[in-house]
Amino acid sequence: MRFLITAGPTHEYFDDVRYVGNASTGTMGVEIAAAAARAGHEVVLVLGPSALPDPAGAVVRRVVSARDMHRAVLAELPQADAVVAAAAVADYRPKERVQGKLKKDRESLVLELVKNPDILAEVGTMPGTRVLVGFALEAAPPEVALGLAREKLLRKRCDLIVLNRTGSLGGSRGEDVVLVPKNGETIPLGAPTKRELAERLVRFCEDEVRGRGHAGDHRDVVDGPGGRVHGAGRRGPDAGG
Ligand code: CTP
Repeated sequence: MRFLITAGPTHEYFDDVRYVGNASTGTMGVEIAAAAARAGHEVVLVLGPSALPDPAGAVVRRVVSARDMHRAVLAELPQADAVVAAAAVADYRPKERVQGKLKKDRESLVLELVKNPDILAEVGTMPGTRVLVGFALEAAPPEVALGLAREKLLRKRCDLIVLNRTGSLGGSRGEDVVLVPKNGETIPLGAPTKRELAERLVRFCEDEVRGRGHAGDHRDVVDGPGGRVHGAGRRGPDAGG
């Protein structure tokens, strides 16, 4: 199978040295890329500005802004069997970018922001049978957050939304993680390490692709003439872990 994964923040520059960004480190997406590579899949990781090294076994395309990430994803999309959007893409970018350095000659400064492309939503509208996994990082109370995740699942036409809480940003574990697949289930996972969650998501994608009967390059998930499935085994989306 071929995985296309987005990860990290994006930086939206308003002059040559300053940007609007967020606190994402890229850990979650890098773990997913590493887990997919360990499971024998081909992996392209489109990674926003991150101090993390390239994960072993993945082709890494480093990008800066949401528009860079958008371009890189569209270029890689035709080859992908599964897309996992773990990036914390900046929803807005400064309308203008000043060349050089903005001077502090005013008492206040208003930055006008314009909307960035929603990469995941756009991929969801594209024809094809690829598996689509998105993330929702919510600060709202759990019941409200779950409703927002379901709404996001439908609006972005995903197969699965991974609901995570803002406390997970920068840490090595998720916080109150809930898997929200499109069959209506909710699967609470508690506080898995990002590595455990990554392996779980790779298994979800493998199972989805198998269920659709187009496992891309079957060599990655089927072993030998008996067709023994290895890695995840035949776990449904409600399997524990
Ligand atoms: N995402 C994306 N491109 C964007 C914004 C988000 O691909 N421009 C993806 C993220 O990688 C993540 C999912 O969409 O998988 C959820 O991102 P989020 O910003 O929470 O979605 P929004 O719909 O913008 O949610 P909100 O209404 O809370 O802003």
